[in-house]
Amino acid sequence: MVMFTVTRKETSPIDSQKPGTSGLRKKVTVFKQPNYLHNFVQATFNALPGEQVKGVTLVVSGDGRYFSKDAIQIIIKMAAANGVKRIWVGQNGLLSTPAVSCIIRERYAADGAKASGGFILTASHNPGGPHEDFGIKYNMGNGGPAPEAITDKIYANTKTIKEYFISEDLVDVDISVLGVSSFQGPEGTFEVEVFDSTTDYVKLMKSIFDFESLRKLLSSPKFTFCFDGLHGVAGPYAKRIFVEELSAHERSLLNCVPKEDFGGGHPDPNLTYAKELVARMGLGKEAPKDEPPEFGAAADGDADRNMILGKRFFVTPSDSVAIIAANAVQAIPYFSSGLKGVARSMPTSAALDVVARDLNLKFFEVPTGWKFFGNLMDAGLCSICGEESFGTGSDHIREKDGIWAVLAWLSIIAYRNKDSLDGRKLVSVEDIVRQHWATYGRHYYTRYDYENVDAGAAKDLMAHLVKLQASLPDVNKFIKGIRSDVSNIVQADEFEYKDPVDGSVSKHQGIRYFFEDGSRLVFRLSGTGSEGATIRLYIEQYEKDSSKIGRDSQKALATLVEVALKLSKMQEFTGRSAPTVIT
Ligand code: G6P
Ligand code: ZN
Repeated sequence: MVMFTVTRKETSPIDSQKPGTSGLRKKVTVFKQPNYLHNFVQATFNALPGEQVKGVTLVVSGDGRYFSKDAIQIIIKMAAANGVKRIWVGQNGLLSTPAVSCIIRERYAADGAKASGGFILTASHNPGGPHEDFGIKYNMGNGGPAPEAITDKIYANTKTIKEYFISEDLVDVDISVLGVSSFQGPEGTFEVEVFDSTTDYVKLMKSIFDFESLRKLLSSPKFTFCFDGLHGVAGPYAKRIFVEELSAHERSLLNCVPKEDFGGGHPDPNLTYAKELVARMGLGKEAPKDEPPEFGAAADGDADRNMILGKRFFVTPSDSVAIIAANAVQAIPYFSSGLKGVARSMPTSAALDVVARDLNLKFFEVPTGWKFFGNLMDAGLCSICGEESFGTGSDHIREKDGIWAVLAWLSIIAYRNKDSLDGRKLVSVEDIVRQHWATYGRHYYTRYDYENVDAGAAKDLMAHLVKLQASLPDVNKFIKGIRSDVSNIVQADEFEYKDPVDGSVSKHQGIRYFFEDGSRLVFRLSGTGSEGATIRLYIEQYEKDSSKIGRDSQKALATLVEVALKLSKMQEFTGRSAPTVIT
């Protein structure tokens, strides 16, 4: 057996290693600084209880972005030196974020061991390449992101670090080849197993959805389908599930070969960045050459986000989770015995709230960040959850799940068409959404993002909005001066959350203004940007009147947008006359 030794290396703290909402995300050039990754990995090992490092199995993989392959070898060598027993790596270092969560929860080694956690190498939907972003985050034994107590400790460790441990003489493992490599170190054997990236995840999906009825839908000539992997890690899963298992045509897959730089694109599934899919679905500026497919979807770099489209039709993520919740029990076998509860992040529209009330379900509103859902799920309080930021998921794992969301939608379409696939016109995505609005009312919704704004200016804008909350009569006077037809603001606050499971309190989670007619404005600073500050403005208006639910959402929301921009003095503070992205 190949032997290795352990070397202790001296190091010193490097600034800027504070993990954000979803781990540490920085430019590749930052990660390539001497010791930058090493310090963070050692700080993570030191933050975990000893029994979660010594002798355990860990997963290490990610979305395949530039620098992943180097990072995997470094982490393997550091894990060996820190007494980890076994490392699991997806072939070529590829595992989607939901697949890592699934593997931590469901996979067993030959000796019966399970993984006690894992490093996910991704910067999610941020671009990749030598001059773009890299990222790393740690997930715990429940398959979910490390809680704040751990990430705070990691950060504190990075500020005092003096040494790290590495097995420099451990040869690089060929991660393109399936199999187990064994080594002998001072603390016994150490092994690296490279395995197929999709098998465990596919097995889980098959236990949740009725693949037989999905296959019937996807092979029906009436149903046309398109999936855009945006050159992220979703590609191999899409190929395996949609094409090999469910008989979709190979040509229904766009950009499904993972690339280190995502083909130069921005792997974020929204109307701005998923350009090719948007054009094909008939939602681009120009009419497409061919008749658009009935259904289109995309996932982000690490395949946890999703966008759902119908023919010439966009489903907002806030509507998507509400519609999945409303149909889950009938359409998805995993939920057939009922939902334990549902949850959404605070800025997500209240479409889900209305479904929860109607179905008499437990309902939770949590701060932005998937980890808050994880706690509810571990406590058996929540089955389905979602976020406006194109995240949807369920308690099958502890991450949001892009492919799962697509399968959930396909299941709803299959269920709605179960008796008519060979006969009448297809009940389309648009039909399903419009029927939902007719039943529950419609939440018009839009989000304005101001990216890479000066951090000081962003803080000042937020402080201004908090200050205004002290006197609502003055605010109302001001907004009536802008538009006399806008309804009164009746409540305003900063969102604060007390976790019902562990009692922890999260403050300053976004500034909210509530209007008398049920409309709402929310302002928050993003926790995921890697440069400057990103201000997000979320605008929502509820319409119950079924004769008014068919309007264009930007038109329906124009008044509220004007009020929001003037109230916040957006242009004065940021110097921006328009947002970077509107979704
Ligand atoms: C990540 C998190 C989500 C969050 C999203 C947007 O994807 O997993 O939970 O909603 O980032 O966060 P931001 O702070 O940028 O709005
Ligand atoms: Zn992601």
